Amino acid sequence: MKKILVTGGLGYIGSHTVVELQNSGYQVIIIDNLSNSSIDVLEGITDITKNPPEFERLDLRIKSDVSEFFKINQDIEGIIHFAASKAVGESVENPLLYYENNLNTLIYLLQECKSYDIKNFIFSSSCTVYGEPDSLPITESAPVKEPTSPYGNTKQISEEILKDVCAISSLKTIALRYFNPIGAHDTVKIGELPAGVPQNLVPFITQTAAGIRERLSVFGDDYPTEDGSCIRDYIHVVDLAKAHVVALERLLLEKNESNYEVFNLGTGRGSSVLEVVNSFEKTTGEKLNYKIVDRRPGDVIAVYADTQKANEVLGWKAEKTMEEALASAWKWEKKLREIE
Ligand code: NAD
Ligand code: WQD
Repeated sequence: MKKILVTGGLGYIGSHTVVELQNSGYQVIIIDNLSNSSIDVLEGITDITKNPPEFERLDLRIKSDVSEFFKINQDIEGIIHFAASKAVGESVENPLLYYENNLNTLIYLLQECKSYDIKNFIFSSSCTVYGEPDSLPITESAPVKEPTSPYGNTKQISEEILKDVCAISSLKTIALRYFNPIGAHDTVKIGELPAGVPQNLVPFITQTAAGIRERLSVFGDDYPTEDGSCIRDYIHVVDLAKAHVVALERLLLEKNESNYEVFNLGTGRGSSVLEVVNSFEKTTGEKLNYKIVDRRPGDVIAVYADTQKANEVLGWKAEKTMEEALASAWKWEKKLREIE
C-alpha cells in the first residue's frame, strides 16, 4: 500500500481528499496543527472509511519538527500539500503570517523531499492567481495577474518555487488551481467548519438559513453580468477531492508529460451570486433573508474554469450539480446546529 502524506488533512478540502484516498486503497498519514480545524474531523473520516488514518499533530512552520517527522516516516511516496492559511482579508491585515505559513511550510517540505527522494507532490493552488481574467472560460495558459492580496501572492510564489525546484530535480509536481469549493460529504460526517463569521458565500448562506446570521449581504448587483451579481465556478468538494486521487495516480504511474503541470479544477459553469441564492431556496425550500449591498472591494467580476485540460489529460470531470452541493451544505449546517 502506498503511503501518502496529506498536510492540512483535517481541513475542509483535505479531509474529503483523505476519504477518497483511503477509498482508493492508499495509506494516509495526516499532518495538521489544528489551527483551522478540529480533531473531531479525524473521527468523521474514520466513521466514513472505517479505517483510521495516521495523524501527527505538527506545525509545519517548525523546521526541526518537520525534519524529525520525515526521519521517522521514510516510506512516504507522495505528498498532497493543503496546509496553508486561506483568509484573504486576514492576509491583508497580517501578511507576514501568510508568507510564513504558506511559504516556509512549502520550503521545508520540499527540503525533505530532496533529502528522502520523495518525487510526487501535489499542491493546492487557486483560481485567485488569474485575477480578473481577460477572457472566459479561463484556461491554464491564461496569464497570472498582479496579485490582489498577500494570500493570492503566496499561491503565485508557491507555484514559482515549485516550478524552479522541478526544473532542477527529479521532483514532479501537479499544481491544482481550485475554483470555489462548496458542499459537504454525502454522509455529512465531514464538511466545512468556518472559523468566526464566514467570508465565503455558501457557508454564509447556510448560517443565515440556520438563523445564526441575520441576513446575507449580496455584494453588488451592478456588475456587468446578466443579473448584476458576480459570477464564480462553484465545485462540489467531493468532486474536487476525487481529482487529487487522479492527479496522484498520474504522478505515481509517471504519466505526467513534464515535471511541473498545472490543472484548473472547476465545473466549467459560471453561476451568479443571485443564482446561488435562488438555487439554495429552491433546493432546500428555505427562504433566505438577503439584501443587495455595496460591492466588496477586491472582488473580480466573473471567473469560471475551462476544464478541458483536466477532462482530457487527467480524465476527470466534476459530476455533481450545484443543487447537490447546496443540499449537502445545508444538511451539514443543520447537523452542526442540531436543526431537524
Ligand atoms: P482549511 O483551513 O480548511 O484547511 C487547511 C488545514 O491546514 C487546516 O486544517 C489547518 O489547521 C492546517 N494548517 C494550516 N497551517 C498549518 C501548519 N503550519 N501546520 C500544519 N497544519 C496547518 O482550508 P481548505 O479550504 O481545506 O484549503 C486547503 C488548501 O486549498 C489551502 O492551501 C487553500 O489555500 C487552498 N484553496 C482553498 C480554497 C477554498 O476556497 N477553500 C480555494 C482555493 C485554494
Ligand atoms: C463568492 C461570491 C462575493 C460572501 C475566495 C478567495 C479565493 C478562493 C475562493 C482560496 C463573490 C459573493 C460572498 C457574502 C456575497 N480561495 N459574496 N456575500 O471571493 O470567489 O474567492 O474563495 O484560494 O482566493 O478570494 O469566494 O465565497 O468569498 O465569494 O455576495 O457574504 O459571493 O462577492 O462574488 P471568492 P467567496
